[in-house]
Amino acid sequence: MLRIGFVGWRGMVGSVLMDRMRQEQDFKGFEPIFFTTSNVGGKGPDVGHEIPPLKDAFDIELLSSMDIILTCQGGDYTRKVYPELRKHGWNGYWIDSASVLRMKDDSIIVLDPVNRTVIDSGLSSGIKSYVGGNCTVSLMLMALSGLFAHGHIEWISSMTYQAASGAGAKHMKELITQMAVLGDASKSLLNDPASTAIAIDEVVTKELRSNTFPAQNFTVPLAGSLIAWIDSPMESGQTREEWKGSVETNKILQTKRPIPVDGVCVRVGAMRCHSQGLTIKLDKDVPLDEVSEIIEKGNQWTKLIPNDKESTLQSLTPAAVNGTLTIPVGRLRKMLMGPEYVAAFTVGDQLLWGAAEPIRRILNILIEHLS
Ligand code: HSE
Repeated sequence: MLRIGFVGWRGMVGSVLMDRMRQEQDFKGFEPIFFTTSNVGGKGPDVGHEIPPLKDAFDIELLSSMDIILTCQGGDYTRKVYPELRKHGWNGYWIDSASVLRMKDDSIIVLDPVNRTVIDSGLSSGIKSYVGGNCTVSLMLMALSGLFAHGHIEWISSMTYQAASGAGAKHMKELITQMAVLGDASKSLLNDPASTAIAIDEVVTKELRSNTFPAQNFTVPLAGSLIAWIDSPMESGQTREEWKGSVETNKILQTKRPIPVDGVCVRVGAMRCHSQGLTIKLDKDVPLDEVSEIIEKGNQWTKLIPNDKESTLQSLTPAAVNGTLTIPVGRLRKMLMGPEYVAAFTVGDQLLWGAAEPIRRILNILIEHLS
């Protein structure tokens, strides 16, 4: 029976993954071994049957006895353990949600509804590391998989509205703490029907600018504001998040001629759904109803939202999409720039299709491949 090691299953992405695996009844037909960096001998998660106590996530000998290791532990763990394991002669499959190995020549970025053929050719050529993509990139590709598959995309500009979850669990809590502080500060004015919006704004702005405002994680206010910078600077003037758009898209699709993807990545006060406003340059004037049909048929999770106010407000928001696998694509229309330019807006759960789901699915693909 295949031995599969899980590391980092307790963190945010890891626990979403565990939930999805339980929902899909994935915990069967293999021996799961759960590892820990802090609680050796402790109890593992509920997988529906007895499992041994937690093992040491730095035990190279034991890790080397796994057929597959799946980690959501983060980049530092991968940087430390992965090279040691390979040096030790381990030849098993490594599945990772961290970005460390993404751009390596001997790894595949996994998003099987979009790049199953790339994954399959990686499997036949003996590739052993399979890495989840950047959430923003994966969500954009899920939204537009049909147009990519038809070869209609010349370039994309993506303006993002990224949720707090992309920065981490502490950041999600901080966002709500910030909202609570603003709510508390304006409470008496809000309760007074005679108070003006300007008076409330003054109180809120004072709070946002005070040096006691809770911002240890974001370093600045996100609630009542936004942050037009995600990750570290690149020499190009892009942020690393913006840089990933093009390099990861082209690696995921293994494009022969690179498709430029570029834009401005912005953090907004959503909890776990990233949204993106897209400008798509098509290779030719494809009629809008054809574009709509191609997008809708791209994969089973894509849902076309009619370009009207009611549908947009009901279905094209983080509030509607949170916790679901649906990838709505709406606000679809031709733009003033010319008939090859299409506008679209999409929303996706950053922890599901943006992180845990592609990892869950590659695990099943590998199990099938090895069985
Ligand atoms: N880097 C992304 C973000 C999340 O900060 O939103 C991970 O892909």
